[in-house]
Amino acid sequence: MQAANVVIRPYRTDDAPHMARLYYDAVHGLGRRAYSATQVAAWAPAPLQPIDVLNRAADGRTTFVAADASDQAVAYVDLEADGHVDHLYCHPDFAGQGVASRLLETVVRQALEQGLAVLYVEASELARPVFERHGFTVTARRDFEVRGVPIHNYAMRRELT
Ligand SMILES: CC(C)(COP(=O)(O)OP(=O)(O)OC[C@H]1O[C@@H](n2cnc3c(N)ncnc32)[C@H](O)[C@@H]1OP(=O)(O)O)[C@@H](O)C(=O)NCCC(=O)NCCS
Repeated sequence: MQAANVVIRPYRTDDAPHMARLYYDAVHGLGRRAYSATQVAAWAPAPLQPIDVLNRAADGRTTFVAADASDQAVAYVDLEADGHVDHLYCHPDFAGQGVASRLLETVVRQALEQGLAVLYVEASELARPVFERHGFTVTARRDFEVRGVPIHNYAMRRELT
């Protein structure tokens, strides 16, 4: 799908069902580029519940959505109040066209507006290069378990000046 018509806008509550589904589709459609089938299954055993998306988005974080021509969420990112970037997910149909990159540009602008000094994230193997292009550097590789399955990601941070 073409990302040319994709626009970045603030999250709305009616995005929740689409985000719940696209989280799962992103992990299963793209995760296998860097992680095993077992790891991907442990990362996202099932789609999120829309209520979980609604609750997360209402906990003080700022969420931005990339919406397609029919205004449906195809990617999203969220920024917690302390500068932690939590989720960054893009539907496979829209991957590799700079959509996540545009979401990160929006997060950086938002963080500067909030007066944050630092952004930090635990980035997947897939997300690491995207964050690196936006000035984040790796501070540590994190090896841990999800649902009993060993997996890894990278602690990354960017100072904001
Ligand atoms: C990580 C993720 C969000 C990136 O989404 P994306 O929209 O494909 O990211 P981008 O398009 O901005 O960048 C991805 C690649 O597309 C390329 N790209 C960027 N802009 C582009 C454009 N305009 N046209 C074509 N390709 C482009 C980039 O060079 C990049 O390649 P690289 O990774 O080899 O450097 C997505 O892969 C995903 O959802 N993965 C599964 C879940 C996940 O890992 N989430 C992160 C948890 S921290």
